[in-house]
Amino acid sequence: MFSNLFKNKQAAQNKLDQKRIPAHVAIIMDGNGRWAKKRGLPRVAGHKQGMETVKTITKAASDLGVKVLTLYAFSTENWKRPQAEVGFLMDLPVKFFNTFVPDLIANNVRVNVMGYTDKLPDSTKKAVFDAIEQTKDNTGMVLNFALNYGGRAEITTAVQAVATQVKQGKLEPSQIDENVFSEALMTATLPYADPELLIRTSGEERISNFLLWQIAYSELVFTDVLWPDFSAEDLELSIYKFQQRDRRFGGLNKKEDN
Ligand code: FPP
Repeated sequence: MFSNLFKNKQAAQNKLDQKRIPAHVAIIMDGNGRWAKKRGLPRVAGHKQGMETVKTITKAASDLGVKVLTLYAFSTENWKRPQAEVGFLMDLPVKFFNTFVPDLIANNVRVNVMGYTDKLPDSTKKAVFDAIEQTKDNTGMVLNFALNYGGRAEITTAVQAVATQVKQGKLEPSQIDENVFSEALMTATLPYADPELLIRTSGEERISNFLLWQIAYSELVFTDVLWPDFSAEDLELSIYKFQQRDRRFGGLNKKEDN
């Protein structure tokens, strides 16, 4: 059994073109509730198992050479869920960093957060900002948590910031271009702002207000696997699918060029 697993993993890894690993991978981690329901467990059991998957996939992505891994952990819309579930989700970063920071350091992973963190409970904020501080000198993959994040809110905030610069006379409206606008977004501090690959688990095929500006040219991979079941091999398979795509960015591919 173990040797079989090992062989499958080797097979998936062997298929990958190591020179074309996507620099920025973003994941909509969906299906925790359904995973729990299938087992007759409360929804939060799915979130707890989902946290374990975050550990596995962080390590796997870092080993594969991904530079930025952005995980949609809590959206600006998730506050609508029952209070007990929201409370559990807010406590997950505390649990996660309590046990996982030494592994992050061992793997040279740096933690980052994007979202409206001022609205998070103090204990969540402390766990996240302590982890950012403890991993700030790491030079490997950036593990970027989207926490209380929403794409439309992010764009609205960026518009306000750019408008303020114009009002202050620091910027002419004609100087506003895609680069100026990107600099006002929450991804501006990342080494690679735009995901090359966006994965959504659980069979749902929508974007749900995630990174609306940044995914303009991302390759989208949807998988039926529920997030708590998503494995290192599933990540490799998603990257393999990404590598089969012909990315033209609105232009022509090399063959058509001639
Ligand atoms: C969506 O599944 C998932 C979430 C809203 C929460 C995602 C959070 C985690 C995977 C854990 C995060 C871990 C850390 C360390 C912050 P769902 O509940 O909507 O599933 P369903 O569609 O099957 O009901």
